[in-house]
Amino acid sequence: MEILSNNFELNIFLKKNQYKSIGFVPTMGAIHKGHISLIKTALHENEIAICSIYVNPTQFNDVNDFTNYPKKINDDINLLIKHKCSALFIPQNKEIYPNGYKVLKHENNLFNILEGKFRPNHFDGVVFIVHKLLKLINPRIAYFGEKDYQQLIIIKKFVGKKFKNTIIRSCPTVRNNSGLALSSRNILLSDSEYKEANFIFKNLKLIQKIHKKHTISECKKIIALNFENNKAFKLDYFEICNSHNLTTSVSWEDNVNHVLLIAVFIGRIRLIDNLVLNVN
Ligand code: PAF
Repeated sequence: MEILSNNFELNIFLKKNQYKSIGFVPTMGAIHKGHISLIKTALHENEIAICSIYVNPTQFNDVNDFTNYPKKINDDINLLIKHKCSALFIPQNKEIYPNGYKVLKHENNLFNILEGKFRPNHFDGVVFIVHKLLKLINPRIAYFGEKDYQQLIIIKKFVGKKFKNTIIRSCPTVRNNSGLALSSRNILLSDSEYKEANFIFKNLKLIQKIHKKHTISECKKIIALNFENNKAFKLDYFEICNSHNLTTSVSWEDNVNHVLLIAVFIGRIRLIDNLVLNVN
């Protein structure tokens, strides 16, 4: 695997491989099996796979979250080598943000609901960095996990459309044996928090199972109560939305697919998850 530490090295690599199809997996590091499944798909569908690791400062609304974001670059490199990733791009702040940490503010409602409501400016930072990386790498396909469901919808709509030669591919969430969605933040959980964290997915599965017998507002009350009764958690939100455009669902009768979206704190760590319900 080639390690590319700046735009110059990236450009040499891209020139050398200019006739090969590129699959690109952007990450913020602390590589886990979810990322590896994206790399494997990228290698399966393209001639080469490039992974990037960059903890993007402008997508963090909380400075502690940014400082504490897990960093384990040596382990990451070893894992990527083991899984035959072709190149790892580790860009420098000064190349990504040559004019300081300024990003375009989007006024669209999608940026202010759900995660956007609890993490102001988060998606402006995400759109900036994904746009920048796609411009630098120009991949045939860029891969994103469905765990970050709102991020995926925003990237498809606000970044993907600007890159006619790049397909934005979404890939299923990878879970551990107990159902917890894999996330770089999971390594910040204590052992007991890690064991208990499957409570999140259990609740999504519960709603998937019983939703036909309940209204949407009853389902929301059930989840609110379950989390109120479990002192290990603090619920930020549980919402049920149209899975295509994230407008709030008001009834199951609509001829659309719905997505359950949840964000919770377990101790000091904030986790998100989702589950798409197929109503038909
Ligand atoms: O999902 C992530 O890890 C990040 O938001 C991304 C897409 C790599 C942008 O920094």
